[in-house]
Amino acid sequence: MQKTLLFVMIFLAINIPTIQQGIGQSTLDRRVDSLLSLMTLEEKIGQMNQYNGFWDVTGPSPSAGDASQKYNNLRKGLVGSMLNVTGVEEVRKVQKIAVEETRLGIPLIIGFDMIHGMKTMSPIPLAEAASWDMEAIRQSSQIGAREAAAMGVNWTFAPMVDISRDARWGRVMEGAGEDTYLASQIARARVIGYQGDDLSDPLTLAACVKHFAGYGFSEGGRDYNTVDISRTTLHQVILPPFKAAIDAGARTVMNSFNDLDGIPATGNAYLQRDLLKGKWNFDGFVVSDWGSIVEMVNHRVTEDGKAAAKLAVLAGSDMDMESYLYVKHLKELVESGEVEESLIDDAARRILKVKFELGLFEDPYKYCDEEREKTIVGHPDHQKGVLEMAKKSIVLLKNENKLLPLAKTGLKIAVIGALAADKDSPLGSWRGLAEPNSAVSVLEGLQAHSQNQYTFAKGAELVTETPVFLKEVKINTTDRSGFLQAIQAAKDADVVIAVMGEHGFQSGEARSRSQLGLPGLQQELLEQVYLANKKIILVNMSGRPLDLSWADEHLPGVIQVWHLGSQSGNAIAQVIFGDYNPSGKLPMSFPRNVGQMPLYYNQKSTGRPTNPGDDIVFWSHYSDVSNEALYPFGFGLSYTQFDYSGLSVETLANQQVRVKVNLKNSGLRDGEEVAQLYLNDHFSSLTRPMKELKGFQKINLKSGESKTIEFLLGPEELGFYNGEGNLLVEPGEFTIMVGGSSNATLSVNFVLR
Ligand code: NOJ
Repeated sequence: MQKTLLFVMIFLAINIPTIQQGIGQSTLDRRVDSLLSLMTLEEKIGQMNQYNGFWDVTGPSPSAGDASQKYNNLRKGLVGSMLNVTGVEEVRKVQKIAVEETRLGIPLIIGFDMIHGMKTMSPIPLAEAASWDMEAIRQSSQIGAREAAAMGVNWTFAPMVDISRDARWGRVMEGAGEDTYLASQIARARVIGYQGDDLSDPLTLAACVKHFAGYGFSEGGRDYNTVDISRTTLHQVILPPFKAAIDAGARTVMNSFNDLDGIPATGNAYLQRDLLKGKWNFDGFVVSDWGSIVEMVNHRVTEDGKAAAKLAVLAGSDMDMESYLYVKHLKELVESGEVEESLIDDAARRILKVKFELGLFEDPYKYCDEEREKTIVGHPDHQKGVLEMAKKSIVLLKNENKLLPLAKTGLKIAVIGALAADKDSPLGSWRGLAEPNSAVSVLEGLQAHSQNQYTFAKGAELVTETPVFLKEVKINTTDRSGFLQAIQAAKDADVVIAVMGEHGFQSGEARSRSQLGLPGLQQELLEQVYLANKKIILVNMSGRPLDLSWADEHLPGVIQVWHLGSQSGNAIAQVIFGDYNPSGKLPMSFPRNVGQMPLYYNQKSTGRPTNPGDDIVFWSHYSDVSNEALYPFGFGLSYTQFDYSGLSVETLANQQVRVKVNLKNSGLRDGEEVAQLYLNDHFSSLTRPMKELKGFQKINLKSGESKTIEFLLGPEELGFYNGEGNLLVEPGEFTIMVGGSSNATLSVNFVLR
């Protein structure tokens, strides 16, 4: 009887928005508050607790450590969310416990790292950033969201929007590169791709923008390392993509492992309370990163787990991912008066609200439909979609004497390098639930798209054992037994395609490197093959910018192909044979050597920017390498030629300017160009970069066609943020540069009054 009464109350609470008619309070908020009023303190804290999957087909997995404790807590209503539970069958099982066995039957929100696909893999995010194509990125994100949602997931831990200027950091593969403006546009496109325009649609996911904040500036590019940056860098460089994602509607935020200004991000009230939930008015919830609450003890800012839980909750971390500390300590902390219950209410309210928005109260099993799972996951349209995305992500870096595209018949081609036949590496890191070895290899792609004669020779294994997600990748540094065969193949060939770079698991979380050359024996192999045949096209497959200076100096062709996902080989072949005219542009600078790190195009002037001449040394430079990137940000070649002319600028009212430029495809092929606009503020109250991307457009032009492109810049583009996060727009002279890379030379000045 009591139970029936409770169900009636819950039904009324969540369905009939009544009594608390707070002015302006939405129906949804009233539903959440009604539900909250029925919850015990423990149940509210339970919503703030997130567990990793601990479920086997038969029940709690004995291998999952404290599985029985987790299981008991789930049944007591002390779990609000689970991650890494996937597939309709599995999700249904845990959801059923939450819904049928707990007192209030509140459904779980199910999270997963759907970063660039679930089963059908899109290119890694850094590769997609090279497309500069926001609609393509939106669609690719949507494909991943559809597959994940069809598999019972309703929340993805993406987009990752950490700006990074250091290719040593393995997680650059997950982000959008070094530039704040580009990354902000991409953040927006991804959030819209995941969430669509209706969060309750069973084929969309709630987005989680991460890692808030500063994680991409880990010292020395070493993952999980400390971060020490200024407040101006925080506001100017790091935060805008988060703001863009939130403005686009991202419903959740994940904080980060690093400290910032001496305070771990997870316990950082300035970031989470003052800025995110205060100034930015964010009304979704914040989840900690994995164990990042308990790691505050390792950071040595809290003595024990209880103090860590207190610091995190006071700072505004709403959900505890796998630290188990909220469920353990928060009740006691509230009862002793150390934590206000209103903070718990606020966190639980935020979490419940997102659950309502996802439609989980309407139907807790709405993401659990076997039929939908069968039809959607691996749908042929998804394969087509990721192929389009992969083609757009490829960047042509060098093409001497128009060696590329290659003919489709009549050539003897030596294909060299272990990565050429690798069907696993192209899946990249953070590969969802992709089948191992399921990508189209480069070799398969080449063979499928042409009638040339191919000889494949690995030359050397890249790895000595099959890499797995958790362990260090073991690289072959000794076995050269295949060199001779590769050299012979090269001797006999008209042209060599060398597929080299990084294994898919050499970048990603905890995959920092101190060297940025081709790993293992690949450079040596390349140089030996070069002695046999100089006509080599290097196809560089990597999750980060590598040092390709030797290749650039010696080889006629270099193509950057990243880790391109399921359709990798087909996309690469279509570029090599000219079925697709490459249009990608680098989202990160490629270095001349690792010592240039951190490397980025939007450098400041400094007090000693230029060479005084006469071999005088006292200016900001290295004595052994140029300051410039080998391949700069925004750079990428096409098989056609684009010319820019007629750059003009017109100042308008309200601190706006209109910029016009003429773009012509003066080459012989149709193609796409990314027209980029950079800005320089001559003098300002804070030191500013010498150029900064403030606009871009990807334009398709037929051979011979031209078009006038317009950019409108307003206060957001012309101004800059100070250390308090306030936008300053200062009058004075500016230069605008427009072109096909960050080395754009066409320029015009204007005065902002
Ligand atoms: C740790 C990673 O830093 C984060 O990005 C990810 O979402 C979580 N683990 C969950 O897998």
